[in-house]
Amino acid sequence: MAERVISPGETGDDDRFDRLFRPGSLDEYVGQEKHKDNLKVFVQAARRRREPLDHILFCGPPGLGKTTLAHILAREMGVTLHATSGPAVEHKGALAGLLTKLEENDVLFIDEIHRLTPAVEESLYPAIESFKIDIMTGDGPYATTIQLGLKPFTLVGATTRTGLLTAPLLSRFGYVMRLDFYPVEELEQIVQRSSRLLDIPIEPAGAREIAARSRGTPRVANRLLRRVRDFAEVLGDGRITAEIARKTSERLEIDAAGLDEMDRRLLRVIIDHYDGGPVGIDTLAAALSEPRDTVEDVYEPFLLQQGFLGRTPRGRIATRRAYEHLRIPLPGPDQGNLFS
Ligand SMILES: Nc1ncnc2c1ncn2[C@@H]1O[C@H](COP(=O)(O)OP(=O)(O)OP(=O)(O)O)[C@@H](O)[C@H]1O
Ligand SMILES: [Mg+2]
Repeated sequence: MAERVISPGETGDDDRFDRLFRPGSLDEYVGQEKHKDNLKVFVQAARRRREPLDHILFCGPPGLGKTTLAHILAREMGVTLHATSGPAVEHKGALAGLLTKLEENDVLFIDEIHRLTPAVEESLYPAIESFKIDIMTGDGPYATTIQLGLKPFTLVGATTRTGLLTAPLLSRFGYVMRLDFYPVEELEQIVQRSSRLLDIPIEPAGAREIAARSRGTPRVANRLLRRVRDFAEVLGDGRITAEIARKTSERLEIDAAGLDEMDRRLLRVIIDHYDGGPVGIDTLAAALSEPRDTVEDVYEPFLLQQGFLGRTPRGRIATRRAYEHLRIPLPGPDQGNLFS
């Protein structure tokens, strides 16, 4: 399948641009004002006490700035960030290797922290609680456990699925920050900032048009900006106007609400094949030939937040807004009680 311009997931190209666009300080980071103010206080207090920051968890859909925040925190603390991810820490030994490398007050960043194995997760508890780990030495009857002291450090976790985190792990974070989709005005600032970094001339209306079609997601905004730049250079004089942004979006089949082909397909499947729902998530994923995780992590959050999709105990439903957006007539009262 072709890459969705709008998909919030990372591609190799994105990785490079993610780093280029990544703000270097909390002041440069757009939006999330309340959390930012809190984080600034935590950083100041920890620095004054020469202690590590308390452990922090970032949760929210892909592309909203979790990894960015982890890097910013390390930088503002003046420490090194060591990055890994849940699936990459395959066993306790690998975790011990990471932990013993940390210098005082360093940040250990574990992306997709909900995907740690239970054994690794358990051995993480004493490490984050009292900066100690148990290490097994020897084999069979000669096996003994020795306890090793660690330098104080900060665990920063990121997850797209708070629901999958175990309660004991969740309770060990001193601060949990849930990131939500960004309002258009904030995305507009992000687009403006990225245009400056890429040295692209952009009109305010052009930035607004891109922001409005970016699914509330900074990564999508930055990606769409790059596509619009291509069209501006080839079809125009390189300047990004609202018209070029609109034309580019039309070519890429991104509509005015920021939905793309896949989003519309998802809603249409519910409407056409399941009479508007409810339809179970597994059935829906199978009908779309997509992994259930992808449907839940990538496609659904924005559709739910925007009110195109509803969640009921019996499954997903297409809302009135979805019918109206797709210009499909609402079923009459004799055709079932869809919205009751
Ligand atoms: N608040 C923000 N201000 C400016 N740029 C941002 C902001 N949030 C995210 N970005 C930009 O969006 C891109 C994606 O952000 P990031 O990689 O931090 O997302 P993520 O939440 O870690 O996503 P994933 O769940 O896929 O790992 C980066 O280029 C980042 O610089
Ligand atoms: Mg990330």
